[in-house]
Amino acid sequence: MPGKILVILGSERVSGPPEPARLGERVAAACLLRLVAKAVPATLVDPVEIELPHPFKPHFAYRRGSSPDVLDRLAEQIAAADGYVMVSPEYNHLMSPVLADLLNHFGSSLFSYKPSAIVTYSAGQWGGTRAAVSMRTFLSELGCLPVSAMIHVPHAQDVFGADGSYLPGVDGGRWDGYLDRTLDQLGWWAAAAARQRADGGKRPAAFRTDPSQRNAP
Ligand SMILES: Cc1cc2nc3c(=O)[nH]c(=O)nc-3n(C[C@H](O)[C@H](O)[C@H](O)COP(=O)(O)O)c2cc1C
Repeated sequence: MPGKILVILGSERVSGPPEPARLGERVAAACLLRLVAKAVPATLVDPVEIELPHPFKPHFAYRRGSSPDVLDRLAEQIAAADGYVMVSPEYNHLMSPVLADLLNHFGSSLFSYKPSAIVTYSAGQWGGTRAAVSMRTFLSELGCLPVSAMIHVPHAQDVFGADGSYLPGVDGGRWDGYLDRTLDQLGWWAAAAARQRADGGKRPAAFRTDPSQRNAP
């Protein structure tokens, strides 16, 4: 599985209730462990370590040279990646606001022509499946088309420990297989898209048009 993968965590809830807080840290750590096991260079983007500027203003809205360093650094990371793992809790049946906020700071030009993988979790029994539905729409619009398979982790507090390893009694082999299905699809698409991107100059006009040109006649 080639390519650089950014694992973007959509959780900044550092304290509860509800307990446990920052369940997403474990889920993201588990994804990173699987990627490391496949020798994939993977980096975590953690919103707790990022102070986004307020009020909200997207990176592309700043005049050249005037954008905040924190946004420049993130933009570089996003641009350098070959694919994305988007990790989100389900909050009121939607993806997490912190993940949407972070991603909204950047235009689709940074994400386009690269795939993404949807990873959701919850403390309850549905594993964030309803949030995942909205993520498909969101990520498609962003240009990083989500691969078909998805990872949903119900009762994530009973599956992963703080470092992302499996808790005693959990069938790690089965979970590895489940995680790998999505991560391997991501790797396949990331490699395919990287080859296409490297094949410079062959991007059809359909990908180059201004957003206003998307409008129906
Ligand atoms: C504001 C809020 C809304 C939530 N909504 C849902 C929900 O719609 N579905 C669900 O399964 N769990 C929901 N939960 C419970 C979360 O699955 C659980 O708190 C989980 O730990 C959240 O991830 P986090 O710890 O990384 O923030 C919600 C929790 C919060 C704080």
